[in-house]
Formats: sequence, structure tokens, C-alpha cells
Amino acid sequence: MLVRRAFSLVLIPVVAAMSSVTIAASSQGNPESGRKIYLESCQSCHGPTGKGDSDMAAHLTPPPSNLTAKATQTKTDAELRKIILEGRPGTAMASFDGAFEEDQLTDLIAFIRSIQS
Ligand code: HEC
Repeated sequence: MLVRRAFSLVLIPVVAAMSSVTIAASSQGNPESGRKIYLESCQSCHGPTGKGDSDMAAHLTPPPSNLTAKATQTKTDAELRKIILEGRPGTAMASFDGAFEEDQLTDLIAFIRSIQS
């Protein structure tokens, strides 16, 4: 019994430390991984640099947003997430619901933050 309790006393802080590391990593996201996802799924409209300067842009009304601009960058992560997942009805911005894993979405948002103008 004593041995068991000693074991759990050691184990609990270890598990707690491990999960806090995971949470810290995923809340930050990896902009480099996010860039790859962006180039695959978003640049056709938002352009290679995110400024909305794609070839498609001329054909879309409303045009794809400049993601580097204040209007996008002042939105919270939660707001960006919602737009990506739900899309914008009536525009070319489609819903990406189910397209990405949780951590891919976090990486994507980290990438958007990294192109702030
Ligand atoms: C088929 C073209 C198209 C693709 C692909 C696309 N978007 Fe969009 N996106 C748009 C358009 C058009 C708008 C502008 C909608 C509006 O004016 O309300 C927009 C708006 C947005 C906004 C809102 C910006 C703001 O400040 O209001 C975000 C964020 C966004 N897109 C992110 C993404 C991400 C991330 C991807 C890739 C996963 C992506 N988009 C893929 C066309 C596209």
C-alpha cells in the first residue's frame, strides 16, 4: 500500500507535466506546418502571400480577403477558426469543416498570425 501511494505521488506530477507540455505546444501551433496546409488549401484564392493576390481573385465577388491586413489580424483565434470551419455563406469562402485535424487548424492559424503586415 505504501509502495503504491509512493508510486502515484511520483506519477501524478509526471503526467501533469506531460499534459501541460502538450497543451502549450498545441495552443501555439507551428506556422511552418501551417504554411504547407495554407499552400495546399488556401493560396488558390488568398494568394501565395495571403494578400488576396491570386489569379482567382479577379473572378470572385467579394474578392478573397487580404489575410495579412488588420481586419483579419484583429480577429481572435476563435473567430478565425469559426470562419475556416463554417465558411462565409454567399461567398467563395467555403466551409472546411472536417478537412483538418485539430492541430492542423492550430498550425494554420499560427501561419496566418505569422503573415501579419
Ligand atoms: C475558393 C476561394 C477560397 C479558398 C480556397 C479559401 N478562401 Fe478564405 N475567403 C475567400 C473569400 C472570397 C473570402 C471573403 C469573404 C467575405 O468577403 O466575406 C474569404 C475570407 C476568409 C477569411 C475571413 C477574413 C476576414 O478578416 O474576414 C479567412 C480567415 C479565410 N478566408 C481563411 C481561409 C483559409 C485559412 C483558407 C484555407 C483553408 C481559405 N480561406 C480558403 C475565398 C477562399
